[in-house]
Amino acid sequence: MRIDILSALPRLLDSYFNESILRRAQQKGLAEVHVHDLRDFSEDKHRRVDDYPFGGGAGMVMSVQPIHKAITALKSERHYDEVIYMSPDGELLDQPLVNRMSSLRNIIILCGHYKGVDERVREHLVTREVSIGDYVLSGGELPAAVLSDALIRLLPGVLGDETSALSDSFQDGLVAPPAYTRPEQYGDWQVPGVLLSGHEARIHEWRLQQSLERTRQRRPGMLKDEK
Ligand code: ADE
Repeated sequence: MRIDILSALPRLLDSYFNESILRRAQQKGLAEVHVHDLRDFSEDKHRRVDDYPFGGGAGMVMSVQPIHKAITALKSERHYDEVIYMSPDGELLDQPLVNRMSSLRNIIILCGHYKGVDERVREHLVTREVSIGDYVLSGGELPAAVLSDALIRLLPGVLGDETSALSDSFQDGLVAPPAYTRPEQYGDWQVPGVLLSGHEARIHEWRLQQSLERTRQRRPGMLKDEK
């Protein structure tokens, strides 16, 4: 998967993509993330990427020109499956949406800022709008990083243990069971005996029951959604 991110503040994203699992995924050639500075595409002499809103009002609006130029330049190099605009009024991101999107090959993610983008960008250039939750952040960079992380960790070979993405919370409609590591006893705090039993079937059953119980307590809606 190749992800091209368009941002007016590209440095915000550098460290996130250059550490940990996301860096390894790129080193292994499983994912490519390219962050582009929208100012590089601005034809304004001060490299501006925003302007005052027509009709007045507070806040700046991101201009069509640099976004159009950046998207056109990228599209001249390869086909893109989606041009995604991160926006608080987009489709809510959840695991099923991430799963569906994880089979895409090339995507562009546009990060908004200020009061958003000129509506003509949404009308003519964007193919999908995604929100990471019902709250407003000061820019689309964190949402773009959230979406990219959720997508890249699903790509085959990215996680060390191939099954670990499948056992994530939400993947089977349940939240994940509790996990423990050494030591077996920390002061009075003891690891549940079943996990030390070596009995695979009993461990599997215990984890399933824990997941069901936790889902009932924490996300009852997930159980109701199923039927
Ligand atoms: N930009 C600002 N807030 C956002 C959100 N909640 N989701 C996606 N993009 C955003």
